[in-house]
Amino acid sequence: MITVVANLKGGSGKSTVVFNLGLWLQTRGQPVAAYDLDPQQTLSDVAEVRREEGYAPPLQVYTGQMGMMDQLRIHPGQVLVDVGAANMDAMKQALAAADRIVIPVPPSQPDVWATQRFLHIVQEAVADGPMPQLLTFVNRADTHHAVRESDETEQALDAMPGVTLLPHRLHSRTIYRRSLSEGQAVFELSGRSKAVEEFITFAEYLYPELPQNRKRENLKQGKVNEIDTAYS
Ligand SMILES: Nc1ncnc2c1ncn2[C@@H]1O[C@H](COP(=O)(O)OP(=O)(O)OP(=O)(O)O)[C@@H](O)[C@H]1O
Ligand SMILES: [Mg+2]
Repeated sequence: MITVVANLKGGSGKSTVVFNLGLWLQTRGQPVAAYDLDPQQTLSDVAEVRREEGYAPPLQVYTGQMGMMDQLRIHPGQVLVDVGAANMDAMKQALAAADRIVIPVPPSQPDVWATQRFLHIVQEAVADGPMPQLLTFVNRADTHHAVRESDETEQALDAMPGVTLLPHRLHSRTIYRRSLSEGQAVFELSGRSKAVEEFITFAEYLYPELPQNRKRENLKQGKVNEIDTAYS
């Protein structure tokens, strides 16, 4: 499956999500090919840090060439694509090739506006082809309940036609910043913290077909005695 993580505004968490999802998928036994189509090459840089530090397994990151979208289907496992507005041609090609587009949205009105514009770009890019699944979620949500911006942003996203709002937010937590700077996934940096729990819940929601997820679901329902130690 080709999952493109994209949106128009910078800094919404695209590279962070691709990096962490890629490593998480590998813990679930999935082969992963990650594509970095952003000229900033944050994803390539963080994968390089990981390699230099010797953390295993590495994340295989390809940097994209024009006209390379046909290549995306050759990978046997999961394909993740990190692309932003800095390379609009690559973004449109990736959007047209996607099975689904995951759109991180920070909780603010300008980010909601930018997401609306981004959806127009998706429509143009896909043109007459099949429309990929469009999934939005709030990233960098405030951890204080009194702050209403995440709720308001979710309401606005939920009202957008043809788009599914994921029922899981990622909150603003320093561990995500550490993840990018240190080359490790959040679940490698910490045990079962709130941040790790929320990331795993988010990832499992995105990939419900993975067999280990069913085991975890059974565990929650008390059907098995086994302890899932993947993140301890
Ligand atoms: N949930 C989060 N909590 C805290 N910090 C976050 C979170 N998600 C991302 N960040 C941080 O925000 C910054 C921007 O994230 P990231 O580089 O992933 O965004 P991006 O959308 O790829 O940006 P760009 O458009 O520049 O490529 C990084 O320092 C990252 O660590
Ligand atoms: Mg980025």
